[in-house]
Amino acid sequence: MSLIQTNFTEAPPAPPNVMIIFGAGGDLTRRKLIPALFHLSAAGLLPKGFAMLGLDRLDLDDQAFRERIAGQVEDSLGAAFDRRVWEGLVSRIHYMQIDMLEGADYERLCERLSEIDAERGTNGNYLFYLAVPPSLFGPVTDRLGDVGLLHQSEHDWRRVIIEKPFGRDLESAIALNTSMHRNMDEDQIYRIDHYLGKETVQNIMVFRFANSFFEPVWNRNHIDHVQITVAESVGVEHRGAYYEEAGALRDMIPNHLLVLLGFLAMEPPSSFQAEAVRIEINKVLDAIKPLTPEEVLTHAVRGQYDAGTMPNGEKVPAYRASPGVNPKSFTDTYAALKLTMDNWRWAGVPFYLRTGKRLAAHYTEVAIQFKRAPTIMFKHTDVDELAPDMVVLRIQPNEGIQMSFGAKIPGPTMQVGSVNMDFCYEDYFGNRPATGYETLIYDCMNGDATLFKHADTVEKGWEIVQSVTDVWAALPPRDFPNYAAGSWGPCAAGDLTKRDGRMWRRIAVPKARIAAEPG
Ligand code: BG6
Repeated sequence: MSLIQTNFTEAPPAPPNVMIIFGAGGDLTRRKLIPALFHLSAAGLLPKGFAMLGLDRLDLDDQAFRERIAGQVEDSLGAAFDRRVWEGLVSRIHYMQIDMLEGADYERLCERLSEIDAERGTNGNYLFYLAVPPSLFGPVTDRLGDVGLLHQSEHDWRRVIIEKPFGRDLESAIALNTSMHRNMDEDQIYRIDHYLGKETVQNIMVFRFANSFFEPVWNRNHIDHVQITVAESVGVEHRGAYYEEAGALRDMIPNHLLVLLGFLAMEPPSSFQAEAVRIEINKVLDAIKPLTPEEVLTHAVRGQYDAGTMPNGEKVPAYRASPGVNPKSFTDTYAALKLTMDNWRWAGVPFYLRTGKRLAAHYTEVAIQFKRAPTIMFKHTDVDELAPDMVVLRIQPNEGIQMSFGAKIPGPTMQVGSVNMDFCYEDYFGNRPATGYETLIYDCMNGDATLFKHADTVEKGWEIVQSVTDVWAALPPRDFPNYAAGSWGPCAAGDLTKRDGRMWRRIAVPKARIAAEPG
């Protein structure tokens, strides 16, 4: 049972299991996974028969590992840290030193897991979380397969969670899927896209399919266009080496932005079961027209940030001056695309996507702009133009939904102004601390793959962006760096919408300084 279908606090605990984390000494474990287990434990969603086994190269025993993570978790949870909950969880956390490439260590792992099963009543159910670089996905699952740890029976299950990047193009994604399939079936693989863990992303489905008034207008007859913005104010931080290989387009669009697009554009699935949702998402991805090389020149924009000043006054260096980055790098830190779909619902409706680092704000939203109402009835009044109606789904921060529409400005003459109705999650549901991994881990323990990516969804995502990356690779950019840190990206991004007589939505940055929008 997915947390989508149930109230978080009323959901039953997951079935007994051991969660085995490869890379337990790393950042993801400290910042996300252990805090997520803490929140699940606080909500009573971990079963009595639960244990976590951390694996890494560090030479530690259970006690030393527990002490090491205790301080880290307290720091990362801040005020949400509750000693009673932590003590209940930490006593179920174990550690084992391992060389992930050493077959003999996996024999020891089998023995250790049997001991934990006997001691903790975890029933031989294992969730392997691979918090390691993608180059290790194949080698680790091969070794797990060799010692039989991926073999499930009627009485127990074996599942593996991995996180992006799932390859860097179609070919490498297929190779990765093939190597994973060597040792397990597709339904044992849980590919995380952390955007699917965000409440507001899941809410797109609820907004569309649990209400009756949006669906009738959710199509080309009423919608003029859609804009998806994932703006980040951070730079590449310490990930220069990874980012040099990826760039903004690969890092964000085939996964996070296409996830948003898929939920937004899909037909109602026959149920919220994983397979039904996957089929509809894949139909959307199938309907997206890959860009021709000529279209890439006008429908795709890339950028790289130069030194600049952020809205808070902080002066930041250029991308090319970041650690691990080639000082002459051609890697994109900004990408914008115009995509269209070949299907009955969306024919002729452009979807504009943009994402970038070091932009003026940290902000993710989906804006659906409706067609303008005909102004005929206001002909002999002061109203010469009506602003279009808009639904904005705010993904982060200040999660919520905003509807903008026209209303009469009070007074003796007929004047129409655009007004907003705003729903904020926090006002209704409070601010429940969460990392975004709680739902995903809980769903995986329950065998619910609705919020995880299937192999063919990953491959379809790469097919779409590869039409762009191939052209970009053949034609290195001549104008990089082409936008200042703290701005809204390169001017060419403005042309992308202007060419169609449209404009990017102005993002309202909470504080005083608003940078000029491109175009
Ligand atoms: C990751 C990307 O997948 O998503 C990062 O690799 C990016 O480059 C991050 O910063 C954005 O996630 P969020 O949840 O902060 O929008």
